[in-house]
Amino acid sequence: MSTNNLAAIAQAMVSPGRGILAADESTGTIGKRFDSINVENTEEHRRAYRDMLFLTPGMGEHISGVILYDETLRQKSADGTSFVKLLEKNGVLPGIKVDAGAKPLAFCPGETVTEGLDNLPKRCAEYVKLGAKFAKWRAVIDIGNGLPSSTSITANAHALARYAAICQEAGLVPIVEPEVLMDGDHDIDRCEEVTEWTLNAVYEALYMNRVVLEHSVLKPSMVISGKKCAKQAPVDEVAARTVRTLKRTVPGAVAGIVFLSGGQSDEVATAHLNSMNVQFKGNLPWPLSFSYGRALQQPSLKAWKGQPANVPAAQAALAHRARMNGLAALGQYSPALEKK
Ligand code: 13P
Repeated sequence: MSTNNLAAIAQAMVSPGRGILAADESTGTIGKRFDSINVENTEEHRRAYRDMLFLTPGMGEHISGVILYDETLRQKSADGTSFVKLLEKNGVLPGIKVDAGAKPLAFCPGETVTEGLDNLPKRCAEYVKLGAKFAKWRAVIDIGNGLPSSTSITANAHALARYAAICQEAGLVPIVEPEVLMDGDHDIDRCEEVTEWTLNAVYEALYMNRVVLEHSVLKPSMVISGKKCAKQAPVDEVAARTVRTLKRTVPGAVAGIVFLSGGQSDEVATAHLNSMNVQFKGNLPWPLSFSYGRALQQPSLKAWKGQPANVPAAQAALAHRARMNGLAALGQYSPALEKK
C-alpha cells in the first residue's frame, strides 16, 4: 500500500498562484510538435527537450507539478539525475499520463472512448514506486452533427471514474480530464450544453465508483465558441459561462480545477483564466488554475528549435508563460505584463 498522502498532494497541485505543466505528449504527438521546428523525433531529442523545460530556473514558483509520459518518467537529465528527482528538488510534483489514448467507440461513428484500464492497478503500482504522485486520463468528447451521443458520454465518464478509483487505491491523485473539443463550427451555447452534460455524467460516475473527491483534481475544457464558429464569444463571456457550468456540476469537495488549453493561443488561455478569477473572486468553491500543454510550451518550443545555444531563451519563454498563468490563477494578470 502506498504511503502517499493524497489530500496533501492534491492541495499542493493547486496551491495559490501555481498550476500544472502538461508535458505528457505521446511519442506521436511530440513528433508533430517537433515537425513544426524541423527537429527529428528521436529519443535523445525528446529527452533533451524535456531536460530544457525541467531545468528552467525558478520553475517551482509557478509550476506545482508536471505531467510526464511513460518514457519521460524513466529518463534522466544530462548530469544523470532522474527527471523525477530533478523535479522534486525544485519543489515540483511528478505526475504520469496513464491512459492509452482515445480509440474508436463501437457503433458510434466519429466518436472515441479512452482505453487503458487493463492492467492499470499494476501499472499504477509501478509508477508510485518510480516516484509519481498524481496521474492523468483524458477523455475526448467531440461536438458535431448529432454528436456527442449519450453512448460516448456514458462510456467515457465510466472509464474516467474507473481510472480515478484505481489511482486512488494505488496512491496517486487522479486528474480527471473530460475534454470537450473546441474544433468545429458550433456556438458557445452548444459547448455549454455539452460541457454541462459531460460533467454531470462524470460526477455521477465518480460517485458510483467511490472516488474521494477531496483527493481528485478536475481538468476541464473551457466553455468556448467552436474554432470555426463565425461568432466568437469574448473573454469575459467565456470565463462567466465556464464558471457557471462548473458551479452547476462540480461538487465543492473537489480539491481544485486546472484547465487544459485545447488549442487556444497562449495569451488568450491566460486571459480566460484571469477573467474567471477576477469575476468570481471570493465566490468560488475551488481554486481555478491551469494545466496547459501547448499554451505553456509553444513559445518555448519555438525559441528552442533543437539548438543547445537556444536553451536560455527557451527557458525564459517557459518561465514567462508560467508567471503569466500563475498571476492569472490569482486574478492578477494583465496583458500589459506580457511586455515586461
Ligand atoms: P493542451 O493544453 O495543449 O490542450 O494540453 C493539455 C493536455 O494535457 C491535453 O490532454
